[in-house]
Amino acid sequence: MTTSKEELLPLIREHRAHVGVIGLGYVGLPLLVEFAATGFQATGFEVDETKAARINAGDSYISDVPAERVSELVAKERLRATTDFSALKLCDAIIICVPTPLRKTKEPDISYILAAAEQIQQHLRRGQLIILESTTYPGTTDEVLLPMFEERGLKLDADFLLAFSPERVDPGNPQFQTHNIPKVVGGCTPDSTEVAAALYGEIVKHVHPVTSARVAEAAKLLENTFRAVNIGMANEMARLCYALGIDTWEVIRAAATKPFGFMPFYPGPGIGGHCIPLDPHYLSWKARQHGFDSRFIGLAEEVNSRMPEHVVTLVSDGLNDERKALKGARVLLLGVAYKRDIDDVRESPALSIIDRLRAKGADVRYHDPFVAEVRFDDAHTQGSGEPLQSVALTDDELKNSDCVVIVTDHTQVDYKRVCELSRLVVDTRNALDSDIRRNSCARIIRL
Ligand SMILES: NC(=O)c1ccc[n+]([C@@H]2O[C@H](COP(=O)([O-])OP(=O)(O)OC[C@H]3O[C@@H](n4cnc5c(N)ncnc54)[C@H](O)[C@@H]3O)[C@@H](O)[C@H]2O)c1
Repeated sequence: MTTSKEELLPLIREHRAHVGVIGLGYVGLPLLVEFAATGFQATGFEVDETKAARINAGDSYISDVPAERVSELVAKERLRATTDFSALKLCDAIIICVPTPLRKTKEPDISYILAAAEQIQQHLRRGQLIILESTTYPGTTDEVLLPMFEERGLKLDADFLLAFSPERVDPGNPQFQTHNIPKVVGGCTPDSTEVAAALYGEIVKHVHPVTSARVAEAAKLLENTFRAVNIGMANEMARLCYALGIDTWEVIRAAATKPFGFMPFYPGPGIGGHCIPLDPHYLSWKARQHGFDSRFIGLAEEVNSRMPEHVVTLVSDGLNDERKALKGARVLLLGVAYKRDIDDVRESPALSIIDRLRAKGADVRYHDPFVAEVRFDDAHTQGSGEPLQSVALTDDELKNSDCVVIVTDHTQVDYKRVCELSRLVVDTRNALDSDIRRNSCARIIRL
């Protein structure tokens, strides 16, 4: 009898394989579209009926995926989405891209992975390749998924293949998208690695195979922990420089002229998004299971999570210098998304800043060209209170604010005008260049 590898490799090379993606969010939808655009039959599996319906109507809800691209592929019948998981049987390769949040206790919540795996388990047939892409702790693929699939009486290699390949998509980054971000692939067996690498090799320029799923899982966590720790270091430096009266940004610019052994990271109002604030906890949790205390992760979390509080101190210090109290002051936040030019507010530090300012009695408003409303009642947002709607950035809005806080440095905001019309500006992102600062009518406080 032929092995799964022997069956799947020709299907992949000739683009005859049917690819299924479970979870059509920021990660899954671009991936599905890439497979369809390369000539594969691509089916997306969603629990959210509205998302599935929008895809099938040729629409997109992810800003990096143009609706025209979706509609073209749907019209060619290469791409479709469904909420009917029985169609998993039709797929030769199934890629899991569901969320991996944290529980309130900061422990990994792999319930979405388990739900997706249960669906696969029900419909698993001989000759399928399963790949997990959701970020998770080392061991998830071979300790959790493998036994679930083997329960069906199928054997790894002979009957099915299983691998982990981390997702590295950077939403809103026009330079690096699915096809030109190298893909790390680690299978539970060499056959699994080879076939999964062959599949990704059809849609990305460079594939980096590793010897196990655990290595691939750990590599992803190292990447994001590296960022969390270095941003923590930059944030600590910013607070230290503030205390010493030194310009942090100038210090970093100067250090970055060293052509070796230094890589600049920048401070900010805190870390946000679905990855950097969460992923290191997946690693430290797994480490704890083995009696290991990952101290860098704990320290970075402590430093980064104090940044919103520091921003509120800057606002309050600035108002104080003008003999004003934070209580009753009108504070306008520029940007609530967790980073520039995107609409994602998950874990955004802006939410924690709003919550803290409101707790001190400030009248908080915000302007964000990408985010029409923020609510404080879902799992991704901290704080509480009434939802807020973005206000127009009118002259009156700026003139009537006691303090304007640049939380997210969206490129379409005219910062020169902000500094001409406002009285006090707190810049947490170095959005104001030296020209604007020199000619500013507003008093400026920088992180
Ligand atoms: N967003 C990023 O920038 C990014 C980058 C790298 C890695 N990741 C990782 O990729 C994974 C997915 O993240 P995301 O940002 O795409 O999440 P997302 O919330 O944008 O999308 C997840 C999708 O999965 C769907 N879903 C949930 N349970 C499902 C199930 N059982 N069956 C089918 N669909 C289901 C949801 O409805 C949602 O549409 C996470 O593990 C995340 O850590 C994300």
